[in-house]
Amino acid sequence: MNILLLGSGGREHAIAVKIAQSVLCDRLFIAPGNAGTAQVGENVKLDASDFESVGRFVIEHRVEMLVVGPEAPLVAGIADYFAETASLKHVMVVGPSKQGAMLEGSKDYAKAFMMRHNIPTARYQTFTRETLKEGEAFLDTLQAPYVLKADGLAAGKGVLIESDLATAKAHLGEMLGGKFGEASANVVIEEYLSGIELSVFVLTDGSHYLLLPSAKDYKRIGEGDTGLNTGGMGSVSPVPFADKEFMKKVEDRIVKPTVRGLREEKIDYCGFIFVGLMNVAGDPYVIEYNVRMGDPETESVFPRIKSDVVELFVNAARGTLDRCTLSIDPRTAACVMMVAGGYPEGYEKGKVIDLGVDAPDVQVFHCGTKKGENDELLTNGGRVICTTALAATLPEALLKSYDRAATIRWDGKYNRRDIGQDLLKLMI
Ligand code: AMP
Ligand code: GLY
Repeated sequence: MNILLLGSGGREHAIAVKIAQSVLCDRLFIAPGNAGTAQVGENVKLDASDFESVGRFVIEHRVEMLVVGPEAPLVAGIADYFAETASLKHVMVVGPSKQGAMLEGSKDYAKAFMMRHNIPTARYQTFTRETLKEGEAFLDTLQAPYVLKADGLAAGKGVLIESDLATAKAHLGEMLGGKFGEASANVVIEEYLSGIELSVFVLTDGSHYLLLPSAKDYKRIGEGDTGLNTGGMGSVSPVPFADKEFMKKVEDRIVKPTVRGLREEKIDYCGFIFVGLMNVAGDPYVIEYNVRMGDPETESVFPRIKSDVVELFVNAARGTLDRCTLSIDPRTAACVMMVAGGYPEGYEKGKVIDLGVDAPDVQVFHCGTKKGENDELLTNGGRVICTTALAATLPEALLKSYDRAATIRWDGKYNRRDIGQDLLKLMI
C-alpha cells in the first residue's frame, strides 16, 4: 500500500525508516519531511493543517494509510476529517480523533479523564480569570514548588514551576491574563511530584493495546539538566529502573484504565499514547498524556521494534491489535541530539553539515535538515540531527552513539555530553 506520514522531525525519520522496511509498504510519502526522510521515501510539500490538500493528495496518490507524527493536526481533527469525508473514509488513520487528542490538547480534560478512571496523578484544580482568587487560595494550600500549567497547547512552554509562593501567584495572574494567549485562559494548578521522570508508549486501537518500550528524554539544554527547556537533547531506551515490577504497576494502574476509559467513553482512538510519568518512590504517577510518539524518544524506541510496524498499524486501524505481538530488540538504545549553536533561543540555519563516518549499529536520524542547491546537506532547524546506537549495555550504547556523533560536524554544532549519566549513577 501507499502510505503518507505527516511531520518533519527526527521522530518522523525514525518512523519512516521502519515503515519503509515493511513488506506491506509500496510507496512512502512524507509531508513535508526532511533530508533524512527523503532517503527512505518521497518528500512532498503539504501543509498538514490544510486537510483538504492532504485529502486531495491522498486520493491522487492512492494512499491507503495516513500516519500522523505531530499533535497539532490531531488536535485540529484530521482523523475526524478523514472519517467524515466520503472519499477518504476508507483510509486507515494512525492518530486519534479530535476528542481523543484532547488528552494532549487540554490539560484540564486530561486531568478530569484521569479522575474519572482513577488513574494516579498529582492532585489539582483548574482556574479561570473569574476564579483567580480561588486559585491563589488553592496555592496557599500547597507546598512549594508550585506547578502551573496552561490548559491548551503552548509549544511545550506552558508549564511553570516556581518555588516562591508570591511569584507563583503573580504567574497565575499573568497566565490567566493571556501570557500564553487562549492556551492559558484556563490554568491547571497541581501538586509537585518529586521523583524521576520516564515515558511509556502505547499503541492502541481503542480497545486493545501493545506496550512499547519505555524511554527517558533529556529536556534541558545544559548538562546536569540545567538551562532552558528544549524539544529534547537525547534519549535512552529502555529505562533501567523501569523493571518488570514497575512496568506492571504502570500497566495495571495507568495503561489498562486509560484504554478502558477511552472505550467506555466511546472515544475513537487508533494511535499512540505517550504517557509522561513520574516514578515517585516506586509508584508511577501520570504527569501528562501526549497523543503521539515523543521526539527524541522515538529515535531510541523505534529502532528497537523488530515487528513490522505497518502490520501493527493495519491491525490498530481495524481494531484487531489483540492479534499482534510485539518483538523488541533487547539491546539498549542511546540517542544523542545535536543542535544549532544558540538553540533553543535564536540560531542560524543553512550551515553545511559533514555527516562523518558511518559505524555499525548506529543510525543517524535527521531532524532539521534540508538539501541545498548543490545537493549539500544543510542545517534547517534548532535540533538538527541525532545518532542512535544499539548495544548490549547502556554504557556501550552511549559510547557508540557519542563516537558517531563526534564525527558529525558543522559550524556551531552543540550536544550535551551527559545523556544517560543519571541512569548510570542509579545503576551503581
Ligand atoms: P508537561 O508539559 O506537562 O510535560 O510538563 C513539563 C515538565 O514539567 C515535565 O516534563 C516535568 O518535568 C515537569 N512537571 C510537570 N508536572 C509536574 C508535577 N506535577 N510535578 C513535578 N514536575 C512536573
Ligand atoms: N520529548 C518530549 C516530547 O516529544 O514531547
